[in-house]
Amino acid sequence: MSSDGVLLTAAHVTKHFPAGKRRVLRAVDDVSLEIARGETLGLVGESGCGKTTLGKLLCLLEEPTRGEIWLDGTDLLHIPPNELRELRPRLQMIFQDPFASLNPHKTIEQIVGLPLRIKSLRGKARIRERVHELLGMVGLDPSQSGRFPHQFSGGQRQRIGIARALACEPELIIADEPVASLDVSIQAQILQVLRDLQARFHLAAIFISHDISVVSHVSQRIAVMYLGRVVELGPAQDVIYDPKHPYTRALLSAVPRVGEAQPEATLLPGDIPSPIAVPRGCRFHTRCYLEQVTECGTGEPGLREVANGHFAACHLARSKAAES
Ligand SMILES: Nc1ncnc2c1ncn2[C@@H]1O[C@H](COP(=O)(O)OP(=O)(O)O)[C@@H](O)[C@H]1O
Ligand SMILES: [Mg+2]
Repeated sequence: MSSDGVLLTAAHVTKHFPAGKRRVLRAVDDVSLEIARGETLGLVGESGCGKTTLGKLLCLLEEPTRGEIWLDGTDLLHIPPNELRELRPRLQMIFQDPFASLNPHKTIEQIVGLPLRIKSLRGKARIRERVHELLGMVGLDPSQSGRFPHQFSGGQRQRIGIARALACEPELIIADEPVASLDVSIQAQILQVLRDLQARFHLAAIFISHDISVVSHVSQRIAVMYLGRVVELGPAQDVIYDPKHPYTRALLSAVPRVGEAQPEATLLPGDIPSPIAVPRGCRFHTRCYLEQVTECGTGEPGLREVANGHFAACHLARSKAAES
């Protein structure tokens, strides 16, 4: 990725929540990544691994315990509040449950129009015109803008959520399981709306899902999280067809394949450990099915480039050159 194409950079971003007496819950632990303009990065991992928290950190809905977040060369955590207010709308999050994130007492016009008023777009008529334009972009009938959220279906509500995010003219959209609560038949439509808008406005996106097969269809690169850390990161095709981390391999083996012999699923032993008691050494070693070396239980592996642009945090991951 060329450095001038980088939109957002996260460096060592960490979020610890207090969890009782001198204990902390390590929701996100030392995550570093970059997102290029117009790029879609898929973020995947089991429930509880820190995807939503990382998404919120990256669009400043949550304050990191440590780490830096840079947007277009600006250090977002060390600028005056008024400058931050200006920049914040460039990062927008779309949530899993559109109903919970839409105010039930407001009409669609008020909901989608609110960011426009904040952007000091003046005049009722101009705001209405823009709201109607936004609703059209997400495939909703503008004549229904006087209705309330409960009068729409789940898929339509997600479209409203997308229109609201677009109203801010963002450069990065963080979509947190945007189709997980929708009927399968509707999921593809919503994904298509997101893809079309991304292409049209050259938007970068972080697409969060617990389902690696969903992110594989929409992402250029994929980041795999385990217990607060990114354990694998690389071009989507490489991560899917040549995974380097044993955890990624296990996630992929659980995906049903159409028209192919189903390889035996790699079932991970035990439950995912609590983020309050992260295992020493490699945090995955308590569930790893590979033959381990001493380091696995003693040293935390960092992300290492094992193929071109393809990184894995595993003591046992070998680069192509080392294998041959
Ligand atoms: N506000 C919070 N306070 C305390 N713990 C939290 C908070 N938000 C998330 N967590 C914890 O952080 C961990 C990661 O959660 P989350 O980011 O929601 O994961 P995911 O989206 O991958 O399911 C979980 O153990 C969750 O319980
Ligand atoms: Mg989540």
